[in-house]
Amino acid sequence: MTANELREKFLKFFEEREHKILPSSSLIPENDPTVLFTTAGMHSLIPFLLGEKHPAGSRLCKIQECLRTDDIEKVGDIAHLTFFEMLGNWSLGDYFKKEAIEWSYEFLTAKDWLNLDKDKLAITCFGNDKQFSRDEESAQIWENLGIAKNRIAFLGKKDNWWGPINDAGPCGPDTEIFYWVGESKAPEVFDPQNNNWVEIWNNVFMTYNKTKEGNFELLQQKNVDTGMGLERTLAVINHLPSVFETELFLPLIKQLELISKKKYENYPREFRIIADHLKAAIFLLSEKLEPSNVERGYVLRRLIRRAVRFGRLLEIKEIFSFKMLAPVIEIYGNVYPLIKENKDFIEEQLVKEEEKFSKTLLKGMNILEKIVENQKSFSGKQAFDLYQSYGFPLELIKEIIKEKDIRFDEKEFEEEFKKHQELSRTASSGMFKGGLTTHSEKAIKYHTATHLLHRALRDVLGEEVEQRGSNINEERLRFDYSCSKKPTAEQLKKIEEIVNEKIQENLSVIKKEMSLKEAKELGAIGLFEDKYGERVSVYFIGGEENNLKTAYSKEICGGPHVINTNVLGYFKIIKEEAVSSGVRRIKAILE
Ligand code: SER
Repeated sequence: MTANELREKFLKFFEEREHKILPSSSLIPENDPTVLFTTAGMHSLIPFLLGEKHPAGSRLCKIQECLRTDDIEKVGDIAHLTFFEMLGNWSLGDYFKKEAIEWSYEFLTAKDWLNLDKDKLAITCFGNDKQFSRDEESAQIWENLGIAKNRIAFLGKKDNWWGPINDAGPCGPDTEIFYWVGESKAPEVFDPQNNNWVEIWNNVFMTYNKTKEGNFELLQQKNVDTGMGLERTLAVINHLPSVFETELFLPLIKQLELISKKKYENYPREFRIIADHLKAAIFLLSEKLEPSNVERGYVLRRLIRRAVRFGRLLEIKEIFSFKMLAPVIEIYGNVYPLIKENKDFIEEQLVKEEEKFSKTLLKGMNILEKIVENQKSFSGKQAFDLYQSYGFPLELIKEIIKEKDIRFDEKEFEEEFKKHQELSRTASSGMFKGGLTTHSEKAIKYHTATHLLHRALRDVLGEEVEQRGSNINEERLRFDYSCSKKPTAEQLKKIEEIVNEKIQENLSVIKKEMSLKEAKELGAIGLFEDKYGERVSVYFIGGEENNLKTAYSKEICGGPHVINTNVLGYFKIIKEEAVSSGVRRIKAILE
């Protein structure tokens, strides 16, 4: 069966049972800044689960593209994915447990529908906890359909309760359907811990609203919310060993074999991670999300970077991520047209991100390799230095260390991290008089951004530009500078672009104590020289410990500053104006 046949069958089955078909919502939820991505079909239906009338009625179904990263570590096995499609049906105060379960069973096992083997099914139902009783009703419905008692397990809230998506909202007990994918005969007794039992469908009985205070209130109506994994179901229907052998992945796997000149069967985990992550990244890019260091953009960045790193483990030396776009278009172009429409943007972003990351990776890896060559453990301080000096993502440091099977003290790293933050704050408190009015984290970010702005102003308007004053609070930075002419809109745009580029480059911020003479020799800017003592501290942005001269920004300053530009966010100039003759002022924010 093809993916399209499965999608169509599902919708037809529920349409015949009076469900209205809804279109898939976007991966980036519209009008909901509180969640990063659409993780389930029910996101867009929350108001209707809570009781509002849905214009299409009380029985709905759809195919929803979803993105989840909570199980990112499990990607690489036979079933876990970050991007997947979910087939779902909903009852908004209409039918309840009996119909929902009976229809799930019929769709999965009836000859005209999926015709799956009844003897390979197993079920979990909600077991009791302090507050809610065991879901005997669902278990009885399953038994009436012929599922043996031994194949029904009762599990707690962690496994058999779904929602709310955030802290509050609709939720309820669920019953999950598993299918045996092992080569041997399905065991008579169901053990949910055995990975050969793969969950394919979840039926949630949304009956409660969890309040912000943590209480569960009964909803005014009883709802059903189901979600079946398209890739997993397709794999079991076609007797395939994993989701990666389905038509929704094969073209990606084949392309990767061509690029890497290696065989999937020899490196299944690496191939699967790369295929999954780049597919997910391409879907996010198709909605015009850009990689960045915050929130949604950061997840996108992490997906691309993790895929690229696994590519390097397969010894792919060239920029390759963009080559996975063609197979994704081949698989999904007709179902999700945005991928085709925005293909130039997607390609451009993949190339840009991979190039940027390749540089970081090369530098960091060389150092990391050297460190681990001669030792069996890796100290938290060493990890911290790598993070600080090269903007090397902590998740990757941890992953590489795990692969090499050497000891690493994560707690020590975190302590080191905290210590550094505190040190840079206490060491500088009272020293910095250049306009920092508070020492909150936001203000510290603005302070580092001010250094970048100062440097970028000189890049664009000329070296004669000098700082005339600076003032920072938690809402914005204000920077006064000498300049005889009003900068043009293009020049301001260019300045903004440079600062953002530097932020994106994950530049480390390094502080060094030295004599004023040394600071000058290194080319540090120091504007109030007569005020400085013999020893000064200089902040370098973008330099390397042993070659600080090449740093992008060098400024005599008391601090405090962030450790790496990657925490700054997006820099935006909101105002440029004259303050007096020859002195101009910029106000800017970090978003
Ligand atoms: N919301 C449930 C899930 O995502 C059922 O759709 O599993």
